[in-house]
Amino acid sequence: MSLSVIILAAGQGTRMKSSRPKVMHRVAGVPMLEHVYRRSLELGADDIHIVYGHGGEHLQEYCSGFNVDWSLQAEQLGTAHAVEQASPKVSDESVVLVLYGDVPLIKTETLKDLISKVSGNNIALLTVDLDEPAGYGRIVREDKKVTSIVEHKDASDEQKKIKEVNTGILAVRAAYLNECLGKIGNNNSQGEYYLTDIIALAVADGNEIVTAQPENTYEVEGVNDRKQLARLERIHQQEMIEKIMLQGISVADPERIDIRGELKIGNDSFIDINVIFEGEVEIGSNVTIGAGCIITNSKVADGCTIKPYSVLENAVVDEAVEVGPFARLRPGAHLHKNSRVGNFVEIKNTELGEGSKASHLSYLGDSEIGRDVNIGAGTITCNYDGVNKHKTIIKDGAFIGSDSQLVAPVTIGKNATIGAGSTISKDAADDSLTLSRSVQKTIKSWQRPTKNK
Ligand code: UD1
Ligand code: CA
Repeated sequence: MSLSVIILAAGQGTRMKSSRPKVMHRVAGVPMLEHVYRRSLELGADDIHIVYGHGGEHLQEYCSGFNVDWSLQAEQLGTAHAVEQASPKVSDESVVLVLYGDVPLIKTETLKDLISKVSGNNIALLTVDLDEPAGYGRIVREDKKVTSIVEHKDASDEQKKIKEVNTGILAVRAAYLNECLGKIGNNNSQGEYYLTDIIALAVADGNEIVTAQPENTYEVEGVNDRKQLARLERIHQQEMIEKIMLQGISVADPERIDIRGELKIGNDSFIDINVIFEGEVEIGSNVTIGAGCIITNSKVADGCTIKPYSVLENAVVDEAVEVGPFARLRPGAHLHKNSRVGNFVEIKNTELGEGSKASHLSYLGDSEIGRDVNIGAGTITCNYDGVNKHKTIIKDGAFIGSDSQLVAPVTIGKNATIGAGSTISKDAADDSLTLSRSVQKTIKSWQRPTKNK
């Protein structure tokens, strides 16, 4: 059996009050549409169709790496009309699964179960029981068998009491779907072509409607405004954090961590409050992450301590390194084993060798720093001459005195010592003291200025 997914994403989403298409709004850092696209891939869909209407350019630009077919629904004439923009392109024997770009938390397992129920021209329909079903299409059953879906606006008072509602998600063989779509009219209270009319048509043809239900109702919740978006965000965060806790990670407060992307983390690590992970992050075992850290697209190996309020972006941190508090690791920062970076240290495109330390107030950019180097407080690599960037090389065992400026390109030799307060613009020799400092003098006759009268 081949599987085709049609994702409806043409709705304008007026209630979002946004210039962006609704489905581009993010849950856990990822556009809602991409969540649905990823589930489609996990299902092994042979082809994926996106029906779009508003903000097509924006959508297509973001989704340029997706393997999808695009169908424009220029006017939103209803869900049946939307599906019809894509379904004729699907091969007859394929099973079509209809999903929604604004229903981001649907689970692959739920969909697998649904698809497995399609046989012949029977339709598999995902339904859910709601205590407050207002607004939804109601599932009408006779002798337990589904006979039709009645939209809320078309329902009788009696039908409005039905708690089983349509999620909109269904699966059906393509040839039969297309046959039914051709028969659906728009003679209803909204003057729309309702996809839900396919149910009564199939029943009239003697086919069966087989239903499945999701484990959690949030899986089928759609987003119409930013309140609903925030609600699903919290549910999704909670779910991801529960998962890592069950993997052996301790968290100070599961409600005060955000994972906006993919987090891999080893057991016995600890995450304090208000930590944000973005993009692809890998954390090893026995790592402690202090409060307020923001870690983006970075790797932190086993046994590290990232102290509070450190910001890591595209950085690599090897085993047993201590970072922070208040450290900033920028792209290309690579801290080798047992190294240490303290407060107010900014590191960019720099290798900090094994056991080396930069404990206070430094900027280290475009540098190659060897093993067991001590970078004194206030050291700055002057890597930029206003036009080009240049490299600073500091060899093993060097000691850079506090408040030194290393004007790149420059090399500091092995076991070299740089005297505090030096401006070093020429290479410093191995095993020697190099300093550039004016001789200290005392002017006894000097007097402090006095205030003008
Ligand atoms: C639809 C169902 C209803 C179900 C509910 C679940 C129909 C007729 N009704 O109602 O039974 O309980 O979803 O949320 O299907 N869309 C398009 N093009 C269109 C119309 C809609 O792409 O022309 C997309 C929208 O962007 C949205 C989805 O389809 O993502 C649902 O459309 P909407 O108009 O919100 O349907 P509901 O009235 O909620
Ligand atoms: Ca809706």
